[in-house]
Amino acid sequence: MSEEKHTESTEERKRSLKIQGELPIRAVGIETKRERLNYSDLPPQNYIHVWFARRPTPATRLGILGSVLPDDVNDDTLLQWMGIQPNNKKPERSIAQHVRHKSRTEDQRDGFVYEHYGYRKSYKNHPSKSEMDELHEKVKQTWGGELPTILDATAGGGSIPFESIRYEFPTKANELNPVASVILKAVLEHPRVDGDISDDIRKWGSEINEIARNQLEEFFPSKQGENPVAYQWSNTITCPDCGLTIPLSPNWWLDKGKDLAAKPEVNDGEDIVEFQVIEAGKSDFNPTDGTVSYGKAECPRCDVVVDGDEVKKQAQCGQMGIQLYSVWTEDPHSDNRSFRAPTKEDKQVIDKVAEKVNSDPDLATLLNGEIPTGHKTDEPHRYGIEEWRDMFSPRQLLVHYTYWQAFEEVKPKIRDENPEPVADAILTFLSLASDKAVDYNNKLSSWDPSRPKIRNTFDRHDFSFKWSFAENNLTATDIGYDWVLDSTVEVYEELRELSGHSNAPTEVTQGDAASLPFADDEIEVVVLDPPYYDNVMYSELSDFFYVWMKNYLGDVFPEFFTSELTDKDSEAVANPSRFEDIAGENQSKAELAKNDYESKMTRIFDELNRVMDDEGVFTLMFTHKKTDAWDTLTKALIEAGFIVTATHPVSTENPNSLHQAGMNAAESTILLTSEIRKSDPDTYTLWDDIQAETRRVARNRAQQLDESEVDFAKVDVILASFGPTLEVFTEKYPVVDDEGEEVSPQTALDEARAAVRDYFIDKYLNQGVHDLDPKSEWYILSWLVFEAQRFPYDEARRLAIGVGEDLDSLKKTHRMWRKRSGDVLLRPHGDRVQDANKDRDNRSGRKPVDPDALSFTTSLDKVHAAMHIYDVKGATEAWNWMNDRNCGSDPAFKATLEALLRVLPHDHEDWNIARDIAAGETGELLDLDLDTDIFQEDDDDEDRQGSLKDF
Ligand SMILES: C[S@@+](CC[C@H](N)C(=O)[O-])C[C@H]1O[C@@H](n2cnc3c(N)ncnc32)[C@H](O)[C@@H]1O
Ligand SMILES: [Zn+2]
Repeated sequence: MSEEKHTESTEERKRSLKIQGELPIRAVGIETKRERLNYSDLPPQNYIHVWFARRPTPATRLGILGSVLPDDVNDDTLLQWMGIQPNNKKPERSIAQHVRHKSRTEDQRDGFVYEHYGYRKSYKNHPSKSEMDELHEKVKQTWGGELPTILDATAGGGSIPFESIRYEFPTKANELNPVASVILKAVLEHPRVDGDISDDIRKWGSEINEIARNQLEEFFPSKQGENPVAYQWSNTITCPDCGLTIPLSPNWWLDKGKDLAAKPEVNDGEDIVEFQVIEAGKSDFNPTDGTVSYGKAECPRCDVVVDGDEVKKQAQCGQMGIQLYSVWTEDPHSDNRSFRAPTKEDKQVIDKVAEKVNSDPDLATLLNGEIPTGHKTDEPHRYGIEEWRDMFSPRQLLVHYTYWQAFEEVKPKIRDENPEPVADAILTFLSLASDKAVDYNNKLSSWDPSRPKIRNTFDRHDFSFKWSFAENNLTATDIGYDWVLDSTVEVYEELRELSGHSNAPTEVTQGDAASLPFADDEIEVVVLDPPYYDNVMYSELSDFFYVWMKNYLGDVFPEFFTSELTDKDSEAVANPSRFEDIAGENQSKAELAKNDYESKMTRIFDELNRVMDDEGVFTLMFTHKKTDAWDTLTKALIEAGFIVTATHPVSTENPNSLHQAGMNAAESTILLTSEIRKSDPDTYTLWDDIQAETRRVARNRAQQLDESEVDFAKVDVILASFGPTLEVFTEKYPVVDDEGEEVSPQTALDEARAAVRDYFIDKYLNQGVHDLDPKSEWYILSWLVFEAQRFPYDEARRLAIGVGEDLDSLKKTHRMWRKRSGDVLLRPHGDRVQDANKDRDNRSGRKPVDPDALSFTTSLDKVHAAMHIYDVKGATEAWNWMNDRNCGSDPAFKATLEALLRVLPHDHEDWNIARDIAAGETGELLDLDLDTDIFQEDDDDEDRQGSLKDF
């Protein structure tokens, strides 16, 4: 029995941890979704500074607490300690049941969401003093009398160590990137320096603002009754045909709510376009018709279309300019905002700024370092943005420079008046405030006319070029630097509120996780959220901030800012642009980048093995997108001497809502737990010897989850079954086949998938499905496993491999599915069968199934054809059709129809037709032996509330 095996190996360990058994993953998934739902109410570290990947608190807490607590802590206690502390729970329900119930009934609530659940978002809650004592006691008992030290070696924006600190565990946070390292200082250390420094941050920030404002006043002239708040700019090129300076913008909307737009007007004899602010509805001008679309520009005077290459050529030769097209102003008395066209005075100021920026030697050379070429930085280069300063208009450059200089002016005073750690903290928060100002005020920050507001640069993880952009008046009251400062102070206060109580020893280090500054065996617990392939190019993107931060904080954290830009050599990402020169016929740059990433991850895992205590535990968190992730990470773990002991998917989708949404494309955060392998493998294990075992443990795990009272999504059952399979596989490493070739973890995972799939077939379908043609089997299994019409491509591919089919040919030749933004969308019968009421010649050639045929390639084709006939010609014709094709004595036809009845959601049109075929005249012909429960309606929420399965 796999369960025995599972227990056996955990017994060999000194203790067994909560994470190695069952976890309340459904409740935590719901809580994770709840945290993410409202973007203006996230944990404070999300607002401190741009960072490109942040883990949600509930999954993070589960990873940490699960890794340190013993398995005799029950789910309710765990959830309570995680901040899931409902005050309206019925005594007969567990907390997990309460959360699931509340999630299902959320749309029936009267009051606020937090009242419905009976507790605020869990990140805001904390165990009481006595609970904390109890928690620590439990942890100490498990870890030899001491609290274990928790390390996150790729800590990024710090979600993991922040939670570790809040639970008062000794915490170490390491990060390669200096920008993230500064963020870590601010999130983990500074909120806990002596005393509350919010007033200091505000005071010094206000002084900086005063100094800068005075110097910048002349560059933001305000008139009686109107202060400039923001400006709308376009980039420009010259029309190669008529010489007009073409202002480029994909549209000319200013405020969609108020129907306001800027209208470009070409005047006789002038090569510059003038603008007017208009109400779109009262004009014949359509603001949606911009001057640029798909990279091509159109001249508003001579209508010539300038192709993308010419646009880029002008940009690269330095001929792309900028032109102001609107000014957003505010009436200081009424706070009313309006837009106006640029005036002569605006243009004079622009000239004055340009003059100043060119003539002042400091300004003329500010940020003149080259932007290196790279995966994400190629885009700015395409548009002539060569140096960091090119990312800013002259006035944006002048403004940010002036604020920096003001910061430098107050820096010595801050140092004089405060002890060093406090001064460092104040300076850091002020520098982060300025970075926020930079993020919202550069040539890549665009105008959002739907709100209206300025978008920040990194609302996408790239440097995408913006044809038009917005400039912020940083000196404006309330919404300029005032706003930036306010929100920075607010973040500080919230961080302090959440973590100020903690005296946890904390160490932030900056460097490569493959070479950590810790002694052997120093760390008991690693919780890691590593970079994943090419998901985010952290270093390339963060250079945008690094060049400013280095100016601000180069003397505060000299050890962070030793190089010109951030470290790309040690960064563990798959960056193809780094292999441009050495890629050749044998290996593409993408392959080289992939290998490089994988070997870096192995080196990081090796290093974690070195610093980890032999009895320690290592929980890796990753976001599941591609199934390859499992293979890569497991291989790297095995090579670094780890044994995988558990896997838990924390998915944010409610299985009950999959049908309604029609899709199962939710991301799961996976927790994958490993331990150090005690003895070196000296023998090879034959795959044949463990194959059956990998299957058996997966099936047992699936059965255990499926039969538990919790309603798990089937995909999650598959992912959770990987744990026991990987445990068998990694313990027996290295595993070879009969030819002596090494077997990859993927093979074992495919075995687990097959085992769980068979379990589902046995449990939920008719045995006949096992004998179907593999194409029809794939279609039915997809509905069964994903419980939705739409689901991730990669999962679909693995399912196809499992039945020996090629997913792409199921699409091209058999048209069983189509693509929808990277997902698979299963086609219903209507999408696959030609119209029987038309002549063959007039039918859609795109539909593969001919309803007049006498034999069919797959049993699904035959059933779909029958559905079509039934649908368009009625029961009697369908009877004849089915009789002619011997459907009554065709076991494959019957098995397919029955399986579809079981897997399709009951509100699906195909289900209704299938039901009609299985009943009535045609039903008699088929003589199916069906359980009556097959026709029962899907449970609605009301039924569910009372059903035993849920409680
Ligand atoms: C997925 S992010 C971590 C996000 C973090 N858990 C959070 O919630 O903010 C991965 C991090 O690994 C860092 N990284 C990449 N290569 C590294 C290396 N060799 N050593 C240390 N950190 C590295 C990246 O800079 C990035 O911040
Ligand atoms: Zn022209």
